[in-house]
Amino acid sequence: MKQDMIVILDLGSHQNTTIAREIRALGVYSEIKPHDITVDELNALSNVKGVIISGGENNVIDGEKIDVVSDLYTAGYPIIAFDHDLAKVENKVYPKDEAELRAILKSFVFDECHAEANWNMKNFINDQIELIKKQVGDKKVLLALSGGVDSSVVAALLIKAIGQQLVCVHVNHGLMRKNESESVVEVFKNQLHANLVYVDASERFLTKLKDVADPEQKRKIIGAEFIRVFEEEARKLDGIEFLAQGTIYPDIIESGTKTAKTIKSHHNVGGLPEDLQFSLVEPLYQLFKDEVRACGVELGLPYEMVYRQPFPGPGLGVRCLGAITKERLEAVRESDAILREEFAKAGLDKKVWQYFTVVPDFKSVGVKNNERCFEYPVIIRAVNTIDAMTATIEQIDWAILMKITDRILAEVKNVNRVCYDMSPKPCATIEWE
Ligand code: XMP
Repeated sequence: MKQDMIVILDLGSHQNTTIAREIRALGVYSEIKPHDITVDELNALSNVKGVIISGGENNVIDGEKIDVVSDLYTAGYPIIAFDHDLAKVENKVYPKDEAELRAILKSFVFDECHAEANWNMKNFINDQIELIKKQVGDKKVLLALSGGVDSSVVAALLIKAIGQQLVCVHVNHGLMRKNESESVVEVFKNQLHANLVYVDASERFLTKLKDVADPEQKRKIIGAEFIRVFEEEARKLDGIEFLAQGTIYPDIIESGTKTAKTIKSHHNVGGLPEDLQFSLVEPLYQLFKDEVRACGVELGLPYEMVYRQPFPGPGLGVRCLGAITKERLEAVRESDAILREEFAKAGLDKKVWQYFTVVPDFKSVGVKNNERCFEYPVIIRAVNTIDAMTATIEQIDWAILMKITDRILAEVKNVNRVCYDMSPKPCATIEWE
């Protein structure tokens, strides 16, 4: 089943994604396309019900205001122009606020375009299963399954589409949170019966990281080693022709369109050597993060996996400050588990954007059982943000903070002090390294 689609032509407006999301929220599929898409290309999409020309503040390239191709105006599609005075259409609108934008979109999509509200996760999944089967045939697909939201949802979707033709590789770098790798194995191997290769590379990573204190160096080592381990596993497998990736829509938009500035380069499993040649399978490339989550829920993945907070690729490695030791890594992992448990009990897991603990590489004097001790502090961090560029701290209730402190001091080895990080971003960053 092909879903009806409204196309947004990108003339540099920062509102493009808001418009796309609003239309999808109406139950109609919407995609952003380059401003100079041709009428033939548009026709080839076959299910386009209407076109939005979204101008805005950045619609200038090399000093010239840009416009859509001129024969678009006579191609027969219903067209509306937002913030674009060049448009040769009657339907030119300049909405004052989001409420007005929403009302205009609703009337355009349903009254003028007569689009059907058939965009939902069930249809999306069924469409994707068909497309994946067609793309892959009887060949095998490889997936680096980190346990993060995107790769987990890709895995669940591919298992449904091609079952044992998918080979998942989970590399445990020893910097995962408590029970994280175990839950990947439990969900994917035991419950979904995935063809899963589990690689415990903990010792290997710890050896490489021994005595390395510089944060950037640590990140580089973890990233490079990850690719090396993954590549070694890939070489052991026969007949793999495809590589699946959890690329999602913001990755594509942020890679830069013709008008938008590149925010960050599109990251993927990149860095794989060129002699390992795969075609890509990227079934989530159309989805926003909340849609990826909804897709995961529809596919039956556990709530904790689908709604987990952001977790950096280098994992606890950047929260065990300085040169990593097993002792302090264990303190980070155990204190993080306590923090997450208590946040969940207090309902804060659904409210706070990101929360974790940090263990620095210095000790302080304390007293335990009437004896002097010299042990590490645990620092609690809990922040709220929209885009991770700036962040404010969560003002946690004292009673909850006291309970977490008591538990950490009683249950985590080598720790005699708990602190709360009060710093917003800026001046601080969210992570400590
Ligand atoms: P900072 O510390 O820069 O973090 O304020 C912003 C967000 O990015 C996450 N983060 C990372 N994610 N690899 C990742 O995949 C990394 O190396 C990395 N460093 C920071 C961080 O957890 C926060 O959500």
